[in-house]
Amino acid sequence: MNVKLLSGALGAEISGISLNNINKEIFNTVNELLLEHKVIFFRDQNITPEEQIRFAKFFGPIEEHAYVKGREGYPEITRLIKGAEEKNQWGEGWHSDVSYNVNPTKAVILKSIKIPPVGGDTVFANMELAWETLDKEIKDIIKDKRAEHFSLGAGFFIDEYKYFESNGNDAEEYSNHHPIVRTHPETGKKILFVNWTYTKKIEGLEESESNEILSKIFEHQSRLDLTCRYTWSENNVAIWDNRSVIHYAIADFFPGRGLGHERIMDRIAVLGDRPY
Ligand SMILES: [Fe+2]
Repeated sequence: MNVKLLSGALGAEISGISLNNINKEIFNTVNELLLEHKVIFFRDQNITPEEQIRFAKFFGPIEEHAYVKGREGYPEITRLIKGAEEKNQWGEGWHSDVSYNVNPTKAVILKSIKIPPVGGDTVFANMELAWETLDKEIKDIIKDKRAEHFSLGAGFFIDEYKYFESNGNDAEEYSNHHPIVRTHPETGKKILFVNWTYTKKIEGLEESESNEILSKIFEHQSRLDLTCRYTWSENNVAIWDNRSVIHYAIADFFPGRGLGHERIMDRIAVLGDRPY
């Protein structure tokens, strides 16, 4: 097994492990790598949908998405399709997946099916480091507070995105409160748990103060020295610990460079605990 770090902040590309035939021992190794690096990538993994589902189940029960239905024949897998001429894609803007749920996603196992020749990288940021490096004054204000996360957050172009038009469930918007600083259930580490897309308000603060602090946090948590960036190829598998990272799917699909190509991903999410 070889581990290549993607940046000084987080992320590693793992080689020498095949994800086809996972057993408990291999899973334990993968989970340790995940907890250490927070997002891990495997290239050249020609796994079937059944193998992806089997692998995901080692992490815990599969989550059902409130807005998006699963693939035909594989309800556990959501197929994310950006059409060739579409400029936008799912996951643009910093977020933690479904942070608005009572039990937000624990981890995501994402497999690349079709990748444009250029464009469409994904960036991840380390929220354990974000908490450690946050301004002391802000830490003191927010450390025991909760924030409200809304399901149809900022930058959610639900009407423009054909995937939702064809496959969306008809759920209404809803919200939940979570501690702004959560504790990782496996490592005990403190994690900054807000994000630009879904977090709208700090409980117990005036709206103007809440907005001011949230905007400072959003700026801080996307600092480039807290990030790593991954350039996909086909048949890659990414796993991220959705409790301790935020991520951003870059939609740099412009005419002449990147536009005109389909991008397809198969996503399985693992249900998480209630943040505390
Ligand atoms: Fe996402």
